[in-house]
Formats: sequence, C-alpha cells, structure tokens
Amino acid sequence: MIIAIDGTTASGKGTIAKRLAAWYGLPHMDTGRLYRATAIAALKHSVPLNDEARLASIAASLDLDDFEESELRTADAGKAASVVSALPLVRKALFELQRAFALREGGALLDGRDIGTVIAPDADVKLWVDAAVEQRAERRWKELRANGDGVTLDRVIEQLRERDMRDQNRADAPAKMAADAVLIDTTDLTIEAAVEKALAAVEAVLARGNRT
Ligand code: DC
Repeated sequence: MIIAIDGTTASGKGTIAKRLAAWYGLPHMDTGRLYRATAIAALKHSVPLNDEARLASIAASLDLDDFEESELRTADAGKAASVVSALPLVRKALFELQRAFALREGGALLDGRDIGTVIAPDADVKLWVDAAVEQRAERRWKELRANGDGVTLDRVIEQLRERDMRDQNRADAPAKMAADAVLIDTTDLTIEAAVEKALAAVEAVLARGNRT
C-alpha cells in the first residue's frame, strides 16, 4: 500500500505522516528533507541558490546522514528548500530516489508537496493537509518563540504566504491537491484530532477500495 500525504507548510502534515506510518507499519519518507538538505549543502559550499546545474549535482549525490536534524529544521533551511525545489533539474535529480521508495515491497508512506500528483500518482490513498494561513502561522510562531526567536506573528504570516505562493505557482510539479485526494482541514483541530481525522479518512478510502 502506498500512502501519499501532501499539503501546506505547518499544516500538521509531518506529524500526521509520522503517526500514520507508525500505525500502518509503513516506512516513511519525509521528502521535504531532501530539498532542505540540498539547500543546506549548497549554502555550506557557497553555491548560489539559482545555479541549477550545480544544485542538481548536489541533489543527485546527497547523503542524508551528513546532516543534523536541527540544521534541516530551521526556518532558513525551509525557505532555501522552497527556492531550490522550484528548479526542474533539482526535482529531476531527486525523483528516482522518491519513486523507488514509493515502490518498496510492502508499501510506503511519503509526505511532501507532489507525492499524489507526480511521485506516486498511483498511490492507494492520498491526503491533502491544509489549514488557514493565520492558524498555521500561529503554530509556527509559537514554536519559534519557544526557541527564543523574536519574530512577529505578522512576519510569520507573510513568510508562509510567500512560501505557499512559491510552492504552488512554480511551473514544475507545483504543490497541489490531487483530484482524488481527501482534504484534511486542520484549522480548528488539535494535532490529536487531526491525526484521528486523517486515520479515519485513510480507513474510509481503504474500505471503499475493498468493496470494489
Ligand atoms: O515540507 P517541508 O517544509 O520540509 O518542505 C520544504 C520545501 O521543500 C517546501 O517549501 C517545498 C519543497 N518540497 C517540494 O517542493 N516537494 C516535496 N515533495 C517536498 C518539499
């Protein structure tokens, strides 16, 4: 079984993906880490974020073990990842790795922006996780504040809007809800309730599949 979980930044997609992968015993690939690692490696080696050929070669030879989780998770890494992920040669360099993971024997769960549309259009279940930008920003802002970052809520809203715009309007594999995906709106939900809702949605899709 392949489960594809896509959605917007700070929508709860990552937590939902982790919890569903554990529930169904599926290996999980957080595909955003590939773009984050590509961007971090480029920044470390002073490769400009628009040097498509060099970025693609970095992406093609990535070893995720070279990166600390904490460096991948920063706001700057997320922003830089969004920039490099708009480059077609970078996406191409990362395609096979993701596709091979999706086709693992025994199934897989992947989360990202284009899993249901490009990486695994054949997925058994597709979810699109989203929430109002103000709500997503507030969650992100609380995390940042807890880590001592003095950024304002308005600035975080602005940054998320910018990120959504870039991810959803790029020409190659834009972040988009697949036609056959189920929408999980987490705006008014706690993370526990969001996970429950996602699990119920997966079960409903699987039950439908078993009847036909
Ligand atoms: O999910 P995330 O915040 O870790 O993703 C970081 C950026 O990487 C995101 O802004 C867009 C890009 N991305 C992508 O283009 N395609 C994916 N499958 C996953 C992430």
